[in-house]
Amino acid sequence: MNTLRKLGKWIGGTLLAMTVIFLMIYLFIAYMINGRIDKRYAFKTEQVVIPQDGATLARGEHLALIKGCVECHGEKLSGKVLVDNFPLGRLSSSNLTWGQGGRPTDYSTSDWLMALRHGVDRSGRPLLYMPSHETTVLAKSDLQALIAYCQHLRPVDNQLPANQLGPVVKLLTYVGKMPLLPVEQIDHNRPMVVQADTLEGIAQGKYLAVSCIGCHQPSMKGGKPTLPGGSRIADLTRSGATGRWTKEQFIRTLRTGKTPTGHQLNNNEMPWKMTAQYTDSELKSLYQYLHSLR
Ligand code: HEC
Ligand code: HEC
Repeated sequence: MNTLRKLGKWIGGTLLAMTVIFLMIYLFIAYMINGRIDKRYAFKTEQVVIPQDGATLARGEHLALIKGCVECHGEKLSGKVLVDNFPLGRLSSSNLTWGQGGRPTDYSTSDWLMALRHGVDRSGRPLLYMPSHETTVLAKSDLQALIAYCQHLRPVDNQLPANQLGPVVKLLTYVGKMPLLPVEQIDHNRPMVVQADTLEGIAQGKYLAVSCIGCHQPSMKGGKPTLPGGSRIADLTRSGATGRWTKEQFIRTLRTGKTPTGHQLNNNEMPWKMTAQYTDSELKSLYQYLHSLR
């Protein structure tokens, strides 16, 4: 009996010690991540002229659809709560309209550029989970079109709750599994590219594929799921299954979310509602680009 009680005490003590150690490791990680979130940056402000013509606004609307702005900021771009649960915490996207809870009346073109090119708001605060590492490589003409379109949005009043990150997000960020702080990934000295590749072909495909590499990797070979429990990310090069698809099958899959084998892609994992908005010419370019990769 005596030895059993001793053993019990020993196990209890070990469990307590382990809990304390894990708690201390977590507190250390949370402290490091909070430091990175609370960091303030100062980048040189930039100006561009924002054209107001119909063609520019139409291009901006198209970009808002194919670059995922609508997926994350909502149909009217008035912001939404992206997640709100215990281990992940709460994260909202911003209201991009001029309504209440949206852009302040003096939100200028350089503030838009600060967010889209550098990943910080106008006070230098890092924007969380906003894919500025992708928008930063947009050509000047496309940035102008996006900003023009956003500045013309109908004002929607939508006050979003403050962000409150949970432990899982901090742990995933710490191990580099979550793009929480795109500001850290951006080459801030990179000048704006003047003209976008808008002619059908491999160059346009590569320019568009910037929206795919966050999940499919820069090599487009995919790999392990981005989040625990998610689907494996498909290899989109010639060596993957898509390498054997015809152009028509590729286009149909990205329009309907249904692959040639009849598998329905889940929009929360593979944003096919976004790829459904690409023009035929853009999807052909993506196909050509992906088929140029091994
Ligand atoms: C993966 C989801 C996601 C996508 C895609 C996305 N955003 Fe965001 N965006 C966010 C989140 C989340 C925030 C709020 C970040 C914060 O407050 O820390 C944000 C913030 C912003 C801000 C910052 C506003 C400010 O406070 O200065 C702008 C501007 C913006 N987004 C524009 C866009 C545009 C334009 C697009 C399309 C090219 C886009 N976003 C695509 C998630 C996204
Ligand atoms: C948010 C992450 C994410 C982004 C962004 C993304 N994908 Fe995917 N994609 C996935 C995942 C995950 C799968 C596998 C889903 C499954 O098996 O159900 C997938 C599957 C696919 C498939 C089906 C492949 C097959 O073999 O069945 C194609 C085609 C595809 N993606 C193309 C694209 C293209 C093109 C882009 C960029 C325009 C893109 N994806 C952007 C996550 C993403």
